[in-house]
Amino acid sequence: MLILSQGHSMANASANAIQEHLKHKVLYDKFGYDVDAERAIVIEKVEPIKGKILEVGSGKGYFAIALAQKGYKFTSIDISSQEQQIAKNNLADFGLSEAVNFQVADAIDMPFSDGIFDIVFCVNSFHHMENQFSVLREIIRACKPKATIVINDFNQEGLRLIDSLHKNEGREHKFFNVCWEAMVYFLHKKNFQTQFSETKHQKMLVASAK
Ligand SMILES: C[S@@+](CC[C@H](N)C(=O)[O-])C[C@H]1O[C@@H](n2cnc3c(N)ncnc32)[C@H](O)[C@@H]1O
Repeated sequence: MLILSQGHSMANASANAIQEHLKHKVLYDKFGYDVDAERAIVIEKVEPIKGKILEVGSGKGYFAIALAQKGYKFTSIDISSQEQQIAKNNLADFGLSEAVNFQVADAIDMPFSDGIFDIVFCVNSFHHMENQFSVLREIIRACKPKATIVINDFNQEGLRLIDSLHKNEGREHKFFNVCWEAMVYFLHKKNFQTQFSETKHQKMLVASAK
């Protein structure tokens, strides 16, 4: 799915956001990674989405744009106020500010009461987190009893690609390994059932509370 190919999106996005988004998209495309398609797959996997939604790791807001463009309203947290400011600007440029309640917060200590979210998305963020199990425990705490947790992140091929992309820009991509098998084990112990899928560059774990 091309976010910018949708009439609604084009009408609402400012020239600046379109340019930035296209620049990002074209660069990733050149390296064989379709940003919009990968985000769309994550959403489609769990639609229809009902209830209170949380995104952990706003980043620059690409997943938030995809979710907001589908009409969902949700909360998105990030530990970095700078990254989140970019996300806020991007959402505003696309005319989607109303859809997202952005909050600066650490995923291991979220400012939410117990049991309030129906679904939590964590897209391409786990590999940035050192304490992945503390984060997962915190996400479960904030989830309703029948909630769904979606963890999507790069597989080895995806990490190689992101590494090349960063090198191309003279940067280094630092990451923590995502321990998928241990995460599945942990979730089963917490009474979740899990479904695992993979695309060329990403792995996705959908956990549903039994
Ligand atoms: C690659 S970005 C997320 C991309 C975004 N989800 C998307 O798909 O467009 C990863 C984000 O995770 C955030 N992050 C890392 N550790 C975090 C933590 N402990 N709590 C909250 N956010 C964190 C980083 O600041 C970064 O903005």
